[in-house]
Amino acid sequence: MTRYLVLLLTFATFLAAEDPFTFDSNAGHLPKTIVPTHYTVRLEMDLPNRAFTGQVRTEITARETVDAIVMSANALEIAEARMITDAGSVVLPTTYDADSQQLSLHPSAPLVAGDYIIELDYTGEINPNAEGFFFDRYTTPDGDKELFGTQCEVPDARRILPCWDEPAFKATFSSTLVVPENFSVSSNMPAIRETPLGDGRKAVTFDKSPLMSTYLLAYFGGEFEILEDMHRGVKLRIFATEGKSQNGAYALEATKQVLDYFTDYFGVAYPLPQLDQIAIPNAFSGFGAMENWGSISYMETLLLYDPATSSQSTKEGVFNVIAHEVAHQWFGNIVTMGWWDNLWLNEAFASWIDTKSTHDLNPDWNYWLKSNRGKEYAMGLDARIATHPIQLSGVTEYGAIDAFDAIAYNKGQAFVRMLEDYLGERDFRAGIRLYMQRHAWSNTTTEDLWTALEDASREPVREIASGWTLQSGFPVITASQSNGKLILRQEPFSIDDPNPPATTWSVPLTFAPLTNLGDVQKTLLAGSQKTMEWPAKLGAPKINLNDVGFYRVVYDPETFAAIVTALPRLPAAEQINLLGDAWALVSAGRLSSTDYLEIAWALRDNPSDAVWRSILSALIEIDIWMLDRPERADFHRWSINLLRPQIERLGWTPKPGEPTADAQLRSAFVYRLGVFGDQDAIVESQNQVSQYLADASSIDGNMRPVVINVVGRYANEATYNQLWERYQKAINTEEKTALLRGMQHALDPALATRTRELTLGEELPAAHRNYNLFYVSSRGEHLEETWEFTKEHAAELLAPLARYGTNSYLGYIVNRSSDPAIAAELETVQVQHRGEDALAEAQKTSGAIRLRARTRERELPGLSRWLKVHTSPAN
Ligand code: BES
Ligand code: ZN
Repeated sequence: MTRYLVLLLTFATFLAAEDPFTFDSNAGHLPKTIVPTHYTVRLEMDLPNRAFTGQVRTEITARETVDAIVMSANALEIAEARMITDAGSVVLPTTYDADSQQLSLHPSAPLVAGDYIIELDYTGEINPNAEGFFFDRYTTPDGDKELFGTQCEVPDARRILPCWDEPAFKATFSSTLVVPENFSVSSNMPAIRETPLGDGRKAVTFDKSPLMSTYLLAYFGGEFEILEDMHRGVKLRIFATEGKSQNGAYALEATKQVLDYFTDYFGVAYPLPQLDQIAIPNAFSGFGAMENWGSISYMETLLLYDPATSSQSTKEGVFNVIAHEVAHQWFGNIVTMGWWDNLWLNEAFASWIDTKSTHDLNPDWNYWLKSNRGKEYAMGLDARIATHPIQLSGVTEYGAIDAFDAIAYNKGQAFVRMLEDYLGERDFRAGIRLYMQRHAWSNTTTEDLWTALEDASREPVREIASGWTLQSGFPVITASQSNGKLILRQEPFSIDDPNPPATTWSVPLTFAPLTNLGDVQKTLLAGSQKTMEWPAKLGAPKINLNDVGFYRVVYDPETFAAIVTALPRLPAAEQINLLGDAWALVSAGRLSSTDYLEIAWALRDNPSDAVWRSILSALIEIDIWMLDRPERADFHRWSINLLRPQIERLGWTPKPGEPTADAQLRSAFVYRLGVFGDQDAIVESQNQVSQYLADASSIDGNMRPVVINVVGRYANEATYNQLWERYQKAINTEEKTALLRGMQHALDPALATRTRELTLGEELPAAHRNYNLFYVSSRGEHLEETWEFTKEHAAELLAPLARYGTNSYLGYIVNRSSDPAIAAELETVQVQHRGEDALAEAQKTSGAIRLRARTRERELPGLSRWLKVHTSPAN
């Protein structure tokens, strides 16, 4: 495409203002002439045969005269459709269009406007993947068992019942589930009746739901253990499989805390009488948790926490994911985006408030600092051509699946944070409360959010915000000091586009004198340049305080030098912010990687877990550049020197009562030192793993995953076999995952081959199988062999994947490559197997690979020389 055309298109999307939500103007495929009001559904589950029988009676309203009743259905066998009238029932002929997944019922004469009742008998499938009804097979002390559940987002409620499967067709549901008598069940509402059927089965009827979108529908059944509590009138339950329910205690506690937090934040009570949360052992792949209303589902490792063996990261993850899904119970479930092009409303907001609430309720976890990793990842993607705007245009419900990406989640969350910071916490919350009140039980577009925020804050929110959600990318701010002035300029920050379109943003800038960071000034940089008064006596300014802004900053050389000198004494958030910008400038060729390493070296005494994670991610990237180079040994030596002072401060084993951040930092360091070949780290890991193998309870939860990885990395066949045996016996999913990660770390090519082959067998559950190749190649080692294996078996590997994540599958596997030839192959193989529409998803990775190839070529010569000097014995 020519530059001119791109410019025109960017401009066109910018100008095309969206309308507020109305049902009639809302996007979607179904005709809006008929709306459902209430579904009464009965589902008889036949788990052994992977099938179910359904009957649904739907109350509908024809808004005008119609010839046919058109609804969504997929993979359902319709036995009979009837119109129910006072005079009795009339069978209606049906037709089905597989492309649009639309089922039509054809009355003999047109239906005039008015209310009708239709009824359908049908059968459907229980799938191995979390699409519609799914089954999950799991290990228990008394043999393998199975449970079933549902996953409807994005368009899979239509695999459960024929329905109006688009988010704006809200209706109420009354459901009955027929299951084996020994099953416990959960749905969106509490059970109100249980009737034994006399044949080993029972029929459970659930209370009528409030108005809801179909993607939130939920049915779960299995031999669950249930942990139960009441909190302010809401019945809370954690469903876990046999022997695991005690590990739900932490989730219950966390749920109470976040329920109170959100009730206050949104100014509206939790709307349902129950909140069930279900731990799914194996079936989830591609996503981790789903906000079904009143019946939230989680990958087991995201809901269960074992105080004796789980890591602190697991604990924080559990809290954070619960906060995310519970936030959706309001933002998403009570107020829902009208169409999937505004998916960001759901996911960005939930991501922002999951971090905000996790941070506020656990201040010592430094959760905002930790969220910097996600922001940096999104900025990396958003600085490349392969990016897209937060708000999508012309997306179908199938295309929406690829839209659950770092732009929607991480850029979205960072943007919401920046906007909140600009408007102020109080006004922002007032706007959100207004939005909840105005649109409860209905749908919205992004425009509706801006309107509510404008009404609450009296600020021109739309003008500031729409540039961030309708345009892709973000600006770099150049700041220079001269003659008592601070000159701020903006231009797009693009890494791989030599002539980015001349976009500008309304940038909420914050800055303060380096020597007095509390003296915060704010300004909105709306045009391309702005000049501020900045008396020389103020010294150097730090811009983008607290790492809140979604932009980069380049300072004039003198100011930059002053900041770097002061950096070790600045707060962690400022260190992280500067490190992030510095590393991005390395990618963009505006700073050398050796300058970056000098900055990292200056910070070697800092104790912040989050700051170190930022530094470590750069070290990991440099390590990838060096994979096939002799200088890699120098780099490892330099890195070990960098990391040693901290591990000496922390010690190799946990100390009672130490801050959780220290425990997390220790495990990160033991891992990185181990991977970089530090002998002490390797020996320590071997000791801890031997103890663990002798007595699984002897190991600390934070150390378990990392020492297993280090031992796995250097494993011989016998050690590898021990990990594999343990894996097969383990019942706890967190432990199983740690053992498999260890195997995936093996450096020995023969062992890597064995691990790869597990992907094709039946021994790994979906959640592990579908990420197996990614974890084998995710350090860049074995990448070529893994890619060869992937190409050879591509059809077989892609076939069993759920739709979620399928288009990113191939890209993940070569994500750490520096080889432009692999980038090109990735695009070809992607199109070959997934079609033209999936190319954009592959380009997120191929663009990153090409960028790495160029960066590496530019950086390696200088870096090699620098390392020689900085690792010589004299140093
Ligand atoms: N609504 C999503 C689940 C989802 C993701 C459904 C992709 C369909 C496709 C849910 O709220 C979510 O965002 N889950 C996250 C976990 C969260 C803590 C970021 C996930 O599954 O990754
Ligand atoms: Zn979400």
